[in-house]
Order: sequence, then structure tokens, then C-alpha cells
Amino acid sequence: MADKVVFLDRMLSLGLARVSEAAAMASANLVGRGDEKAADQAAVNAMRDQLNLLDIQGTVVIGEGERDEAPMLYIGEEVGTGDGPAVDIALDPLEGTTLTAKDMPNALTVIAMAPRGTLLHAPDVYMDKLAIGPGYPKDVVSLDMSPAERVKALAKARGCAMSDITVCVLERPRHEDMIEGIRSTGAAIRLITDGDVAGVIHCAEADITGIDMYMGSGGAPEGVLAASALKCMGGQMWGQLTFRNDDERGRAAKAGITDLDRVYNRDEMVTADVIFAATGVTDGSVVSGIKREPGFLTTETILMRSKTGSVRRMIYRNPVAAK
Ligand code: FBP
Repeated sequence: MADKVVFLDRMLSLGLARVSEAAAMASANLVGRGDEKAADQAAVNAMRDQLNLLDIQGTVVIGEGERDEAPMLYIGEEVGTGDGPAVDIALDPLEGTTLTAKDMPNALTVIAMAPRGTLLHAPDVYMDKLAIGPGYPKDVVSLDMSPAERVKALAKARGCAMSDITVCVLERPRHEDMIEGIRSTGAAIRLITDGDVAGVIHCAEADITGIDMYMGSGGAPEGVLAASALKCMGGQMWGQLTFRNDDERGRAAKAGITDLDRVYNRDEMVTADVIFAATGVTDGSVVSGIKREPGFLTTETILMRSKTGSVRRMIYRNPVAAK
């Protein structure tokens, strides 16, 4: 059939879980050790090694950075055995390097895979993000609205008071006005110090996490990863790249982006079916962090496919050699 894209997402998804597990296990000994770089490097090495075992013709489209600044898992790096489907890969071997170094909640290893040419090549700039969980009318909130208007619209759609809404926001000076706007409605704010991929995912499980909406600016690469997760779990998301200087605009041009003001919705960031895996490094509300006991490391991974909307949580108790 001419229109059948051979993605083999069902078969590849379990391999993808191994990739995120490997990255998490590699960073296990660096949780709470105050060394962000070492934790990140360990995760990068392990993720790359494991990814290269997969039967894919993979291209990293969201990775550790440009080729000249990241020797491994750089944007454009070819990964996999070279056999199998041609795929785009978005990854963050350690989302929350500071969270890991300080043993604070919600550090994850994250990877998404989709058919070649279907993930937004987001440059390493900021993205203004807005996300809500499933079950709401299309476009009930938008980036055009003020923070207070978003709370009002969401409360109306949910049939609750504005004070019943909780918004997750990265705690940054650049968000002070936004926080003030949200507070003026009486809504609650869950401030996080890092890790907005988890922040967005929380909206998809509002009953468990208590978070109804995510808003604010964070890394654009993380935005595409979060959109991949929401595409599997359900929920809406919008993102708009923001630029502070010509260097950043140049990065967008290099990534093939011509309309610098464009607002992307979830399915414009991820235009086809996607698979997504994230493993907990530190404890969090998406998955538990790595547990260590003599001779074993135990991880929890969330593994999802947008084609089916399936969400697996997998516990992996792995024997490790004594040192
Ligand atoms: P790192 O893991 O690269 O440190 O990123 C963590 C993070 O909090 C992301 O989740 C978020 O998108 C970004 O940093 C926010 O950037 P900034 O710290 O510059 O506000």
C-alpha cells in the first residue's frame, strides 16, 4: 500500500524503553552527587550505545546540541544499525541535570521516535508553552490569551471555580508577571525549579498530579518531547519559539524554520504517530526514580504509543555487577 508508512512502532517501542532505562541506570550513581555534567555524560553515553543497537535508520533531530558543541547525540547524528525504518529521534538523555545533581523530584531520561521528517526540528532556543490534559474542547485556551484569561476559560470548560484550577510553572524571574496574572484569579500554582517535560505530562494525568494546565517558557527541544508525550496520552499543547538575539534566529534558520512567529499546536510539532519512553531518575509523579539495593538497580519507565494511546509503566529490576 503506497500510503503505509513502515514505522514498526509496536516492535520498536520495547527497544525504546531499553534506551531510556539504560540512560537512567547509567546516571544512578550520580544522583545527589552535585555533578550535573558527569550525570549528563553518563546518561548520554549509555543512551547512545543502546540506541545504536536498534534496527533503525535513525537521525537525531532533537539532541544534545549542534555538532560543533556536542560530540555525541548531536543534531543530525545517524544512529541505529542502519537497517529498518527511517526515523526521527528526539531525546534528552537527562532532563533535569540539576534535579539529578541535587536529588530533587522529576528528573527523567526521555526519548521519542517517529517516522522520518515528522518531528519539528526545534532549535535550542526558548519556547513559550501552554498545555492542558485530555477531555477539553479544541482550542479552549490559547497562547494569545493572558494567563488570567486561560484560567478563566479552563475553569469554565471544566465547570469549576477558577480557584479549583492548578497551573504548573517553572520558577523563573521571567515568569513573574505571568505568576501574578494567574494568582489574580485565585488559581493555585505548582512551581517547579526544572523539568518542564514532566510539567507538561502532569496535565495528562490531572487526577493523579492535581495539575490542570502548564504554561511558561522553557527549552524548545523539551517542548517537542512534551508534545510527543501528550500525543500519546491525549491533551492539547501549543508552542511558539522565542528569540533573544540573531544567533538564536540563525539557529532557527539552520533548522529550516522560516516563520519565526508561528504558533505550533501539538500535531504540528509531531505530525505522525510517535512512540515515547521516559525513565525516572529521581522520584516524581510521572514515574518513580531509580532504586538501589545491593546487587540491583530498579527503574520505572513510562512507554507510550500514539497510534493506540497505550500507556505502559514498566518496572525493571536489573542485576548489576558489584564494584
Ligand atoms: P536541563 O536538564 O538541560 O538542565 O534542562 C532542565 C530545564 O528545566 C528544562 O526542563 C526546561 O525546558 C529548561 O531547563 C528551562 O531553561 P532555563 O533553566 O534556562 O529556564
